[in-house]
Amino acid sequence: MPSHILKENSSDSARLWWREAAIYQVYPRSFQDSNGDGEGDLLGVISKLDYIKSLGVDAIWLSPFYTSPNKDGGYDVSNPRDVDRRFGSISDAEALIESAHKYGLRIIVDIVPNHFSTEHVWFQEALKSPPGSTARARFHFYDGRGVNGDIPPNNWCSIFGGSAWTRIKEIDGKPGQWYLHLFDSSQADLNWENNEVKRDFEKTLRFWLEKGVDGFRIDVAHGLVKDKILQDHRDPEGLTRALRLDVSDMPRDERESLLSDVPFFDREGVHEIYRNWRRIFDSYSGQRMSVAEAWVHPSSRATRYVREDELHQIFNFDFLIAEWDASFLKSAIDRTLHEVSAVGAPATWVLCNHDSPRLVTRLGGGELGSKKARAMALLTHALPGGIYIFQGEELGLEDGSIPDHRRQDPVYFRTHGADKGRDGARVPIPWSAGLPHYGFTSGEPWLPMPEGWDALAVNSQNSAESYLELYKKSLAMRRKLFTLNGSEGKTDQRLQKISWIDSPRGVLAFRRGEHFILYSNTTGQHLDLTLEESANDFTIALSSSPGARADGGLLHLPDHTTVWLAGPR
Ligand code: GLC
Ligand code: CA
Repeated sequence: MPSHILKENSSDSARLWWREAAIYQVYPRSFQDSNGDGEGDLLGVISKLDYIKSLGVDAIWLSPFYTSPNKDGGYDVSNPRDVDRRFGSISDAEALIESAHKYGLRIIVDIVPNHFSTEHVWFQEALKSPPGSTARARFHFYDGRGVNGDIPPNNWCSIFGGSAWTRIKEIDGKPGQWYLHLFDSSQADLNWENNEVKRDFEKTLRFWLEKGVDGFRIDVAHGLVKDKILQDHRDPEGLTRALRLDVSDMPRDERESLLSDVPFFDREGVHEIYRNWRRIFDSYSGQRMSVAEAWVHPSSRATRYVREDELHQIFNFDFLIAEWDASFLKSAIDRTLHEVSAVGAPATWVLCNHDSPRLVTRLGGGELGSKKARAMALLTHALPGGIYIFQGEELGLEDGSIPDHRRQDPVYFRTHGADKGRDGARVPIPWSAGLPHYGFTSGEPWLPMPEGWDALAVNSQNSAESYLELYKKSLAMRRKLFTLNGSEGKTDQRLQKISWIDSPRGVLAFRRGEHFILYSNTTGQHLDLTLEESANDFTIALSSSPGARADGGLLHLPDHTTVWLAGPR
């Protein structure tokens, strides 16, 4: 039994903490450096727990800190049951779990089951073993085609660019078999039909559960099982493009058709794996949870991952690509809430993460981008379900601009620079204005930090009007308004729904429960709106930008602004 499972107080145990949780994603390498080597580490995270607590979140999700050659930001794991030296040690991880629990913060860790780093002992053993050996059977090794075997076993493309196959040298030094990697060539896909693979992951889950973690974020959860692995795909390049969110020039029909059957994603077999995992989670005390990173098509298939006996949550990435546009947002919200309600799972909302541009950047950057992003965040924080916040989102950071010679993301290299990759969102956190590297490190940060971030630094954002304060206020108010409703601490079922209020074009408005109304103005114009009669005595509880007023049944709503209106209790 772990010594320090988070104690649940009586009101907590009445509800499932994760259903409405605000979960803060820490990308450890970019959070806080404790030893001056320019890279964040676990002791750095511990030193900032008071900051994380002050945000008002329920849990921390830590991106991978396991032993890794770090070819893909630690998502290339060479030992999932140890801590990479750059991040510290196992005892640092234990200390982090324990300290976070003392703060009342839960800890969710990443698990990366689709692939192992090619530096993992299993892969090294496979390289030294002959074709057909048990060591090779843990991965997808096949002979090549053509007389010399120099054509890959099929024509699949890596999601990161280039072929999904790499040829190895056999022990005799001659070109030999090929192995599959849906991502970087340093990330060899595991064969999930192999029992040793299954057992090893169960061991890893138990390892961290016993250390007291409260849950797992499952990387590429839809990718584990592969079909038709020796067949060519009719259009592999098209498929890779269709899988990318930022490619918009592909005709809809073509995209739909390609995504309707991806031989390496969302195969039936993945569900059996998660049913097994669920039994493991449930066998531990405390409320352990899991969230799937699974990109599936059509989106309604997402609900299959959160059936009662499978995972607890699945990331909903609609908002990750959403424009600040009322009709788009309304249909995404409707669709999501409708789909999850069918299986009784909570919705999730994600505005950005370590794989996507930062929200302010995506919405155009600068003052206007920041204004839209604040409005979008307040909208998101008012929706039923769980929210995920990527470190620095609460500061209103933009992507850092990275000179090409400083880029690290394998996406940049595999596409020969055609895709700049994801480094921009991974720039370290500015903690203190005026200090070198904003106090992130006393050394040289692993990615350059922009000049001119003083005003965005944590210690500069003390005023009531700051971006950071808006997040703190909305997270605190969200908890008060929607989560712990009623003295017995039970979630009120009526708060799980929203009802739309008729509103002009470009405006989103809904009620949630009896005492809450939200208005979002996605247009560039200031609007004067008439409130429903029953809302005459509602007042503005929170506004994403200054200048909003509610009086005598009229709402004065500035451009690109969200307001929360609260009624008398
Ligand atoms: C997930 C991770 C991403 C990583 C990829 C391969 O999408 O979020 O960062 O590159 O999986 O593991
Ligand atoms: Ca460090």
